[in-house]
Amino acid sequence: MRVSERYTNITNSFRKIFPEAEELSMYRAPGRVNLIGEHTDYNGLPVLPMAIGQDICVCASARNDNRVVIRNSEPEFEDKEFTIDYKISPYPKGDWGNYCKAAFQTLQDYLSDCKKEKRLLCGMNLLFDGNIPMGAGLSSSSAMVVAAAVAVNDINNLDIDKLCLAELLSAGEKYVGTEGGGMDQTASLSGKRGMALKIDFFPIRVKYIPFPENYFVVVCNSLVDAKKSSGANLAYNQRVVECRIAVAMVKKFIRDKYNAEPDIRLLGDLKKSEFSHMLNNIEGILDEIFIKEELSFAEISSFLEMDEKFIRQRYLRLKDDSFFKLPPCGLKIKNRMRHVLTEGGRVEKSMECIEKREVKEFGKLMYESHKSCAEDYEISCPELDELVEAARQNGAVGARLTGAGFGGCTVNLVHKRDVESFREGMIQSYYRNREQDNLENCIFTCEPSNGAGKIHLNS
Ligand code: GLA
Repeated sequence: MRVSERYTNITNSFRKIFPEAEELSMYRAPGRVNLIGEHTDYNGLPVLPMAIGQDICVCASARNDNRVVIRNSEPEFEDKEFTIDYKISPYPKGDWGNYCKAAFQTLQDYLSDCKKEKRLLCGMNLLFDGNIPMGAGLSSSSAMVVAAAVAVNDINNLDIDKLCLAELLSAGEKYVGTEGGGMDQTASLSGKRGMALKIDFFPIRVKYIPFPENYFVVVCNSLVDAKKSSGANLAYNQRVVECRIAVAMVKKFIRDKYNAEPDIRLLGDLKKSEFSHMLNNIEGILDEIFIKEELSFAEISSFLEMDEKFIRQRYLRLKDDSFFKLPPCGLKIKNRMRHVLTEGGRVEKSMECIEKREVKEFGKLMYESHKSCAEDYEISCPELDELVEAARQNGAVGARLTGAGFGGCTVNLVHKRDVESFREGMIQSYYRNREQDNLENCIFTCEPSNGAGKIHLNS
């Protein structure tokens, strides 16, 4: 379907559902594919994603009351309605309406806390329409939050700029129960045609890097649903908690070895600290800190010289104020730390490679990243591994899982002249034996696209 046709369909449906609405506007927020830098954002290390053409559109009109009426053009999404208040209570976990509530709550807080204005946001009618495959690690859920937020920002004349909105929304996604970092919201908001984005965090900063000419990004869906709000959500939050414990262990190690109190809140802070030399020999340091790979809670507590209750209070509290339940098996803090620190280094090297047009070197880093995600961070699955192996056989310069992991998609870097044979090869190696009526949705090329904003409709 042509883009203009899609917009016309959405506005027509909107007028049918909300015949009383006077003025309507349309906004879009793209999904993203991460080229490299997985699970580094919440650790204060950079990522290298790009916004993609697939997006969530939302048609919106202001109401005269404080009601928010939400519809989706896909019938599987139930109709939703809520009233704006200073505190908007979330729907049960996993409910799609929370993505929209997250946007309203975040901007209501902004209005009340930052602008010190004692007024409620105005009510709105909203119709969402998306074409980002869901649960595929392409950030369809954050795109929905961003689309809603861009609409609220515009209709209420809040004038929040993109980077500030990205900061607000990355914190605001606690509504959906994930401890995620800021990559998805920033990529969706700040995307630029033809550009990959190097994003740094705390605070968020974006640097644009022209995407290598003559290469395409091909996305392959493993068909394993990686919905963040299901089991993968737990596994994601576990990684966040493991990284916090890693920070505590590094600090304890520095205190004991150097008799110093390091100013480190995140693993990424090591880089800018006076202990950055430790990053020159990551393996050596890991061996010094950790006696073995898997540590029980009791072993962690004895290393930190903190009792288990204190550790729970301090490190296991999640953004929604619940406590993470540790699994009965041990935690592999050493492996998690190895992944995060080496992955941060790979992002920096990748950026240099792209700038110097050493695309093949960049591709190698992508393969290395996948290995690290699979072996040390344990966020891959057999299907993603199979896809990466198939990509290697079928001529991809680089391939890796993309997004939170535990299913979803791989991102593949393929020379333009090889795209057709790559696609054929992947269909033969992976999709032939899996029933799929719509291969277009399983394997597709993506171009670096513009970020979220208002769509200027012709009529
Ligand atoms: C999810 C989160 C991001 C990021 C990735 C992993 O997409 O929302 O913030 O942590 O996982 O890199």
